[in-house]
Amino acid sequence: MPDSRLPNDAAQQLFEVRIAPDGWVFSAALNQSVLQAALAAGVEMDSSCRNGTCRTCLCRLEQGEVAYAMAWPGVSAEERAEGWFLPCVAQPRSDLVVVQPMAWPIPTP
Ligand code: FES
Repeated sequence: MPDSRLPNDAAQQLFEVRIAPDGWVFSAALNQSVLQAALAAGVEMDSSCRNGTCRTCLCRLEQGEVAYAMAWPGVSAEERAEGWFLPCVAQPRSDLVVVQPMAWPIPTP
């Protein structure tokens, strides 16, 4: 979900996302969700609604900072404090290390 409040040059800023434990690494733009960036890089992660409500994509953020494009994503303040986040609606604000053991490469045709 692009954030239209960002100037174009800021929206182009890229961060490195590393998926643990498998070690996939890809870039994510400031205005791109972590899930969107993963899919664009050929890495699939569990997801369903992709709007921050179902919690299917819930996983741990081991390192880095994210921001949410919505006021109340489906993760509580306590869960956030414990490192849980929703990659379908979380946008990077630094390089990230995401713990998602169930990520898998998208098969190429
Ligand atoms: S896919 Fe539903 S909350 Fe992320």
